[in-house]
Amino acid sequence: MSTLAVRPAASATPVDGAAPPRLTDWDSTLAFRRDPYRFIGRHAVALGTEVFEARLMLRPTLCLTGARAARLFYDPGRFERAGAAPGALQATLFGRGGVQGMDGAAHRRRKALFVALTEPAAVDDLVAQVRQDWQAAWPRPGASAPFSLYDFAQPVLTHAVCAWAGVPLPAAELPLRTRQLVLLFDGAAGGLAAHLRARWARRRLEAWLTRGVEATRAGRPGFRPGSAAERIARHGDTGARPLPARVAAVELLNLLRPVVAVSVYLSLMGQALHVHRGARARLLQPLPDAAEREARRRAFVQEVRRHYPFFPAVAARVRDDFTWQGVAFRRGQRALLDLYGTCHDARAWADPWDFHPQRFEHDERPPPFALIPQGGGDAATHHRCPGEGIASRLMGLVLQMWLDDDGLGWHVVGEPPALRMDRLPALPLGGLIVEPVGRPAGALLA
Ligand code: HEM
Repeated sequence: MSTLAVRPAASATPVDGAAPPRLTDWDSTLAFRRDPYRFIGRHAVALGTEVFEARLMLRPTLCLTGARAARLFYDPGRFERAGAAPGALQATLFGRGGVQGMDGAAHRRRKALFVALTEPAAVDDLVAQVRQDWQAAWPRPGASAPFSLYDFAQPVLTHAVCAWAGVPLPAAELPLRTRQLVLLFDGAAGGLAAHLRARWARRRLEAWLTRGVEATRAGRPGFRPGSAAERIARHGDTGARPLPARVAAVELLNLLRPVVAVSVYLSLMGQALHVHRGARARLLQPLPDAAEREARRRAFVQEVRRHYPFFPAVAARVRDDFTWQGVAFRRGQRALLDLYGTCHDARAWADPWDFHPQRFEHDERPPPFALIPQGGGDAATHHRCPGEGIASRLMGLVLQMWLDDDGLGWHVVGEPPALRMDRLPALPLGGLIVEPVGRPAGALLA
């Protein structure tokens, strides 16, 4: 565990402000890895600050937390993304040349592609595809040994997103592509072996999709005409020249990978349904008013996104020297914004550590910059995730199937599973081991 003592600030600062409080550890990377979700928030509370400096991955890094700091972080005049993400994440999670590392007008042009691909009508189609695939794959009661909900959801989502995006995927390739896509988000930050497997997976996936981009452009059989994948293959940021084929493959992976990553939220949502009996009882209450029932379900999904961990933080670099809250920010410094801690910040949330969906029932608009599991600011013009609609709708769909649909119910096998917060992404043990029960989960759990 890092020590909380504060070292005096470095004397010379190029701007009119004090250097931030600093952790005394020479390097805090191991402490961060041991507790990635709570590292920033815990130190910030102990230091009584919204910003402090720690050495992470051998580089001095500003650590920011809370809604005020998030507002600052998403001010494009203050921070930029080029060169901010650690190389290890670029080689696995993000890829190189994609939207995550762009700034300014170039970023907005590339981002417009994602905004268009995730418009509500397109999301409706993806939801319909996932519903169909989930229903087809869910085992009949008694026909299957207990299984991991996380593992179950991954091939379903891989199949659905490839079908929806127009990427041909022969049935025999589904297990391989599923494994590779999962490694990108559940392996990148693991040990050395997992990290190397994630790098390998990215190379294979990019090669596969690059071939698809080239075939589509050459008029050979490739991505489905009119599909999202075809749009990406033909997209050019400026003028008629399309993106380099490898970059188009990176962007297509920016669509496929995170849809498969919704499997993380689905197993966390299963955990929430299993563990939080009061919240579950509210969901199961028979309500004549369909609108109120829907509002309760949406609130439950929102609270899962707020309460449970997914990405701990996002990285940027200080664009130019400035002072904030009396603290000097120096050009080029790396900064990390604490997503998990901000979603649990007592300045913005009542009883932030309680799982309490009612907080969203009557006012679905969270305080600005406080609910940021998928980033903050404006998704169209900044780096906020363009997939919040997809994640929330897919979670809502699966919740609805669990609560209402005959034959799609399950119960948890064994003891209530612990949530493993020391892995990235955090997950219930085993990804939540369940067994199908053939009745809506709600009926059985009530
Ligand atoms: C599974 C749940 C998801 C989580 C927890 C999540 C989280 C995030 C986070 C934290 C960021 C970074 C925000 C920032 O840099 O400020 C991000 C960016 C992004 N997400 Fe998601 N995301 C999810 C689902 C999706 C989905 C379904 C899509 C599909 C469209 C998607 C596409 C992207 C893209 C393209 C970016 C980069 C945006 C940019 O740099 O401008 N994500 N996401």
